Amino acid sequence: MFVGISGSRKRSIWVVPRDAKAPPVPFGTGGFCFATCHCEGGDRPPEAISLHWWGLLRQAEALLAMTRLLEARMLDKLNEIERTALESLNAIKDQAVLEAWRVANVGRSSPLMLVFSELGKLSKEERPVVGAAANRVKAALESALTERAEAIKAAALAKSLEEDELDVTLPGRGVHLGRLHPSTQQLRRVLDILADMGFQVYTSREVETDEMNFQLLNFPPHHPARDMLDTFFVDAGERGDNPILLRTHTSPGQIHAMRDASRAAMNPDSPPPIRIALPGMCFRYEQITARSEIQFNQVEGLVVGENITFADLKGTLIDFARRMFGQNVRTRFRASYFPFTEPSAEMDVECFVCGGVGCQVCKNSGWLEILGCGMVHPVVLQNGGYDPERYSGFAWGMGPERQLMLRYRIDDIRYFWGNDLRFLEQF
Ligand code: DAH
Repeated sequence: MFVGISGSRKRSIWVVPRDAKAPPVPFGTGGFCFATCHCEGGDRPPEAISLHWWGLLRQAEALLAMTRLLEARMLDKLNEIERTALESLNAIKDQAVLEAWRVANVGRSSPLMLVFSELGKLSKEERPVVGAAANRVKAALESALTERAEAIKAAALAKSLEEDELDVTLPGRGVHLGRLHPSTQQLRRVLDILADMGFQVYTSREVETDEMNFQLLNFPPHHPARDMLDTFFVDAGERGDNPILLRTHTSPGQIHAMRDASRAAMNPDSPPPIRIALPGMCFRYEQITARSEIQFNQVEGLVVGENITFADLKGTLIDFARRMFGQNVRTRFRASYFPFTEPSAEMDVECFVCGGVGCQVCKNSGWLEILGCGMVHPVVLQNGGYDPERYSGFAWGMGPERQLMLRYRIDDIRYFWGNDLRFLEQF
């Protein structure tokens, strides 16, 4: 390309391609071109043009040279940016330094990005040339960066494989094994003993009806004994006198078990004898304190058959207490009241902290209460499908957490569900 000039009333200057057939390209502000003359330049004006046009031509050449200079300078700068960036990149061996390089060379305020922001200063003709060059440098730097990052990663891996050799002869780290919750441990101790004594385990639901939890156990609606069992009711009263509730004790399992057995009997008049243990969680609407919780486990026992007497009850429970607390443990029965047993009793074992002398744990009585028991009430037998004229039975209910508290002198029941490892890991 060479510079020609075109005259116009606005004195605009056009850059004219050497090839006369190609259209002229406006230079600077552009304008309407009405005359074009071609000239190779030189010291003297060719004869064809006047001195005035010759002067204009020289000015145009100077202007063009200036912009060419800017374009050339920016291209040089780009080359320089590329060269120094790539040179410093090749020396990098570390991820952090690589990141610093990225910020310095392709980051927002890097010299390369500055070139992009300066593109606006260039003429329309130079902008694409410099822009394309800048894009090429940017792509080159970015791909070199990716390549380097991968090389650094591979080198780090190779190094760690070489240096951090695995010593397979070292002893392994111990695996931290969890353990059963102390309540579960105690529950299992109780069930192991009862299993040895010939009891089967029968589990039943935690969500019950009022009928099962109370009525069939001889607590009619509004019976004062319900006050002992503050209850979580689950429904909003739409079931009238038979609301849904969380069981307050494992005793409703007695009804389930007797009904299962009597319904499955070949002859409904002769249901089979029963000897079961009923473990599980119970819930009471209590204020949570050191002595009362809203949830706790119980293990219920139930024996039903012909000619079962209070002597069987005493023999079974004393045997259980010896197996649980030691062969020499002393026991006593005190008369009590439960709606579902008649007669009813509570069983105490001699305080194993003070040996019966009296201490804080037994509140100076020398005895610790461990369970409630009694002969199954005729109404309950009837409700379970067992004819009370022919069958009799005994039952009891006890709390494994209470047994643990007595045994280990735990003075706060809240530890059981507090999920504190300092407590749990002691068992
Ligand atoms: N259900 C009673 C309670 O939670 C405990 C109990 C007492 C269960 C006497 C029995 C029993 O089976 O015969 O307080």
